[in-house]
Amino acid sequence: MTQEEIRKLVSQMTLEEKAALCSGKDFWHTESVERLGIPSIMVSDGPHGLRKQDDKADNLGVNDSIEAVCFPTGSALACSFDKALAESVGVCLGEECRAENVAVLLGPAINMKRSPLCGRNFEYYSEDPYLAGKTAAAFIRGVQSWDVGVSVKHFAANNQEFRRMTGSSNMDERTLREIYLAAFETAVREAKPWTIMCSYNRLNGVFASENRKLLTGILRDEWGFDGFVMSDWGAVNVRTDGLAAGLELQMPGPCPDDDASIAEAVRSGALDEAVLDEAVARILSIVFRYSEARPPRAVFDREADHRKAVLTEQECAVLLKNDGLLPLSRGAKLAYLGGFAAKPRYQGGGSSHIHSSRVSSALECAPEGVVYEEAFPADRDEIDEAAFDRAVRAAAEAETAVIFAGLPDSFESEGYDRSHMRLPACQNELIRRVLAVQKRVVVVLHCGSPVETPWADDVPAVLCLYLGGEGVGEAADALLYGDANPSGRLAETWPRKLEDNPSFLNFPGDEEGVTYAEGVFVGYRYYDKKRMDVRWPFGHGESYTSFAYSNARLEEADGVVRVSVDVTNTGSRAGKEAVQLYVADDTGAANRPPQELKGYEKLTLAPGETKTAQFTLDERSFSWYSESLGDWYAASGPYRILLAHSSRDVRAQLDYTLTAKKRLPLRVHSNTTVGALLADDRTAPIVREAIRRLEAARANEEKPGEAAAEAITAEMVEQMLINSPLRSAQSFLGMSRAEADALLEKLQQAAQS
Ligand code: BGC
Repeated sequence: MTQEEIRKLVSQMTLEEKAALCSGKDFWHTESVERLGIPSIMVSDGPHGLRKQDDKADNLGVNDSIEAVCFPTGSALACSFDKALAESVGVCLGEECRAENVAVLLGPAINMKRSPLCGRNFEYYSEDPYLAGKTAAAFIRGVQSWDVGVSVKHFAANNQEFRRMTGSSNMDERTLREIYLAAFETAVREAKPWTIMCSYNRLNGVFASENRKLLTGILRDEWGFDGFVMSDWGAVNVRTDGLAAGLELQMPGPCPDDDASIAEAVRSGALDEAVLDEAVARILSIVFRYSEARPPRAVFDREADHRKAVLTEQECAVLLKNDGLLPLSRGAKLAYLGGFAAKPRYQGGGSSHIHSSRVSSALECAPEGVVYEEAFPADRDEIDEAAFDRAVRAAAEAETAVIFAGLPDSFESEGYDRSHMRLPACQNELIRRVLAVQKRVVVVLHCGSPVETPWADDVPAVLCLYLGGEGVGEAADALLYGDANPSGRLAETWPRKLEDNPSFLNFPGDEEGVTYAEGVFVGYRYYDKKRMDVRWPFGHGESYTSFAYSNARLEEADGVVRVSVDVTNTGSRAGKEAVQLYVADDTGAANRPPQELKGYEKLTLAPGETKTAQFTLDERSFSWYSESLGDWYAASGPYRILLAHSSRDVRAQLDYTLTAKKRLPLRVHSNTTVGALLADDRTAPIVREAIRRLEAARANEEKPGEAAAEAITAEMVEQMLINSPLRSAQSFLGMSRAEADALLEKLQQAAQS
């Protein structure tokens, strides 16, 4: 339907029909208007599978949904560092939605991982907005290739579950733009999602659901979003305020009282009817985009998608450590210990909970002869001494012990945050006791976010599956025995302990809100700045082969910087390398993280094979968000481009000098500092000339060797002046009032030029 036809349709609707269309018909459907042929469309949870509820609806994952396929959760998918893979998972989900007549998949969830404690971190991608944004854009392109929409959530700054429906996430504009909005920006600009879901929380005091700056100013006016915004389930505070701010659809429905408040506001003149008409038109555009599309026949092939889930997890799991113990040999005498071997934890709790058609465990895939001892249950922290003894004996008798550990369901879920970062005590205890009798120990982790690993120095191999989806058992088996070569990279830093995390002193805040005091220094941006030791750094992941980087080069063309580096597989197994590009700003123009991810490419390499990783950097790749400019800004000066295996394993470095395309605004008044004037090429020559004159005058007056000249050098004068306001020029530069006024005027004119 064309925009014109939609406008016509809106004009035929009554005020009540229009207001009703702005809230759901029920838990999962939009409102229909039969007399005008307006159909209802269905939305369903994801993001890592389809949670379509045919029967009893809820947003806590309590009631059943149709049998579906559970893919690795967001925390795992981002570790693939593979855009093509994320897109292909999106394609699978898009087809599943089409086959099930679901018009909008409620995901991806792309909030930043500010603290490892956030209960929903397992759904989210990363602590890094670039990685999260690119993963999201690829996933969205995949889903929407089936003419099925996504709902990118939770917009914005929903980084904890504590007081998630009322608390305020408080931060400065630069932090908001660089960290908490940037992934959404990439998703919107690059993949044009059909819908956005606003979050429950307030942002700097204003509910996201009625935040005009967020929903209209930034999302639509700046980024060009052209779909509709829906509320998170129950996120609406004052409905009419939300509508005026840019929240088109309230979910779930029906909401007769809120609909009536909209109609009343229009009647009373408090709300312009044009605002309502626009909201209805935006919703209808998506309704018809879905219902009029004629994609190829879609089939929900659970077998094929299960296989896809297995292969996806093989690309996502991260080999955190390997002192040569892995891969295992299928003929070896092995003991599998820990409840997760038989009952893997492969997804998290809450609205994203998928009713999996089948789940594979490492135990059912294990080669014949593997001895299994449960030792501890997968769902609670409990020591059974007899079970422990049996497990330790099995470990002692085996060649290698493989301990399947992880977080029980109750430890991490939507709705509440973790209270600590530890594994259940029983698991750490079993690992300790096994290490006393067996040095060859592999720990396999099932967790949606980092855990403290006090035993990491003593255990030779650690494989993290994150929450690997329903195919996790088959994937673990393939990775442990080398049928697949691990290629996942950490999408978040694993600190040694919770207290090291930058949000530690300000998480989760109080009743009213939480201050993001660490600013832009989130995750590796903080650990790098503090030169802190971490357990495993961002971007880290081992492989069963090795890679060498060579021939790093760059060229400037058409306003962009093209960077390439050759990567060779120097080992004897085929493998994949996630080549990472970080930019380091050495201009000193702003307080920035030492390096930031600005590109990544995953290469598949046969033994001995060399391929070239290619990157394109634009001005934004070098920029930070300047509040005074109200825009992104890259200063002139030196930068380093780092090509790396991980954030702490840089393999090649290139130098680059940038010439700024924009200027930071300079307001010249009597309190502008000499330093600020010297930093701007319009005013610097004037100030320098004035200083030169001062120096010359002083040199005339003083004789060499005099006490004053010795006590204060020319460099010291310059350093002092940098922090002095112009108003002190009179005394410092020995000027008369008239001369100082003339200088101020001259500088003001120069700043306007
Ligand atoms: C969650 C959303 C989810 C919605 C519908 C809310 O509680 O925050 O992520 O899509 O419920 O289930």
